[in-house]
Amino acid sequence: MNVFITGSTGFLGGEILVNLSKRKDINKIYCLVRAQNEVDAILRLDKVFSLHGDFYDREKVFPVIGNLMDADLTAQLSSNPELKDINVIVHSAANTSFSGIYDKMVEQTNIEGLRKIVLFAKQLPKFETFLHIGTATICGKEVKHRLVKEEESPNLNAKHVVSYTHSKAQGELIIREHLPENKILIARPSIIMGDSRDITPRSPVILWAVATINQIRLIPADQHAKLDVISVDYAANAIVKLLFAKRNHTVYHISSGVKAATSAYELSLVLEDHFSDLPKYCFVKNEMLKQMKLVAKNKLPLDSELLKYPEYIKYWKDTFGELSHLRILFAGLDPYLEFLNLGQVFDNSKLLQDVDIEQPIPAHEYIVKQMAYLEKLDVFEGAMDF
Ligand SMILES: NC(=O)c1ccc[n+]([C@@H]2O[C@H](COP(=O)([O-])OP(=O)(O)OC[C@H]3O[C@@H](n4cnc5c(N)ncnc54)[C@H](OP(=O)(O)O)[C@@H]3O)[C@@H](O)[C@H]2O)c1
Repeated sequence: MNVFITGSTGFLGGEILVNLSKRKDINKIYCLVRAQNEVDAILRLDKVFSLHGDFYDREKVFPVIGNLMDADLTAQLSSNPELKDINVIVHSAANTSFSGIYDKMVEQTNIEGLRKIVLFAKQLPKFETFLHIGTATICGKEVKHRLVKEEESPNLNAKHVVSYTHSKAQGELIIREHLPENKILIARPSIIMGDSRDITPRSPVILWAVATINQIRLIPADQHAKLDVISVDYAANAIVKLLFAKRNHTVYHISSGVKAATSAYELSLVLEDHFSDLPKYCFVKNEMLKQMKLVAKNKLPLDSELLKYPEYIKYWKDTFGELSHLRILFAGLDPYLEFLNLGQVFDNSKLLQDVDIEQPIPAHEYIVKQMAYLEKLDVFEGAMDF
């Protein structure tokens, strides 16, 4: 089998690439990489493998320079003779930004960029499977506090917290418009956070939100809302196994399901235990985020409910210096808190039936392995990045 993968320099894609490269039944892996030149592209792949000391087999893994934003990407790829024998495409590349300022780029990457890869797939003579990495959160923000099944999405009427999930829903429609059902495999991870092994995760995403929440301590969120979170190693392992499994479905959640779901409360207990010198966690109603933003602007009205928590306001002043510094953290946290409050859990029974894989470890258990990383994470730097 010969594989073409996009997004392999990313959080999940990197883990998938390393996993695929270890399989004897895969002959060659071609990786679409954004790079200035061949040397730069090889260096980028080298980083993917060296992060956790994995072997980079240069006889097996090859970079293909390209960008989903390139207008002629499909033609570039289709005219490359080395890519003629590709059987499987793993499309993991995406613009995953939650920030509104990137909305246009998110659409161009996740919808138009995906279309270019799908059109390339259609022209491959030996093409078998398009494995698309979607996202379970395409179900939208009106689905609350319940178990979500794969069949519910994509739903054109769904309302979204961020443009990113909307673009991912549109992407799935494009795949279905161009490819027959028997060539499509859609893996929809829930929320991927850190690694369940005692190693540096490939990306601070989501752990940044945890680290920020951990520093703020007064949290405007439903502490008992269920949270579907999995580690990146579990997600990659499940996705690669799914690719080789005898499948009975086209779409699979890669998720914690009910049994391994967590909650802000369960995570807070573990964090409180480790970071015991910080104030106790205090969960307040969601609407309080607005008040918190006013504190950060020094515009909190004198009758604000937030003044019932003076110890936290003092702690913020002592910890973050200028309160205005908090604005950046609160703004960054906003969409994460909204997702947290939805209480969505994604049914993983199809995955567990068709794939030889255990239930994932709940996030409040494996996060213990990421404490050293959380201690070092610079929340302000992270907030700038997203
Ligand atoms: N992380 C999660 O919690 C989560 C949850 C559910 C689903 N997913 C899905 O999983 C997939 C991977 O996400 P991730 O967390 O690994 O994201 P990530 O760390 O942000 O990685 C994104 C990857 O896409 C590549 N990419 C972005 N724009 C590109 C472009 N214009 N041309 C070529 N490559 C481009 C990036 O390349 P560069 O290195 O060059 O930037 C990187 O390799 C995405 O499809 C995402 O929707 C993620």
